[in-house]
Amino acid sequence: MQGARSVQLDVAGRTLQAPTDQTLLHTLLGAGISWPASCRNGTCRRCIGRLTRGQVVYDIAWPGLLPEEKAGGCVLPCVARPLSDLGLEAPGC
Ligand code: FES
Repeated sequence: MQGARSVQLDVAGRTLQAPTDQTLLHTLLGAGISWPASCRNGTCRRCIGRLTRGQVVYDIAWPGLLPEEKAGGCVLPCVARPLSDLGLEAPGC
């Protein structure tokens, strides 16, 4: 897509290029990284992970995270798109 940019996503010992117009889950699965997912709409929390650095934006107004979870770095990759270079820990938070 013209105008789309990518950021750096460090995960599972690899560095991926993550387009800012795609969800993190899309990037992870596209790179062949095994990552749990179910609903893919921010509800079930199956895909939850933890950001070690960077910022994301959510495609939905109320992703299934408590404010304190968000503050602690928890992220739902199925509905999150990157805003900056990111570090993401293995599934779980
Ligand atoms: S797959 Fe259900 S919240 Fe991400």
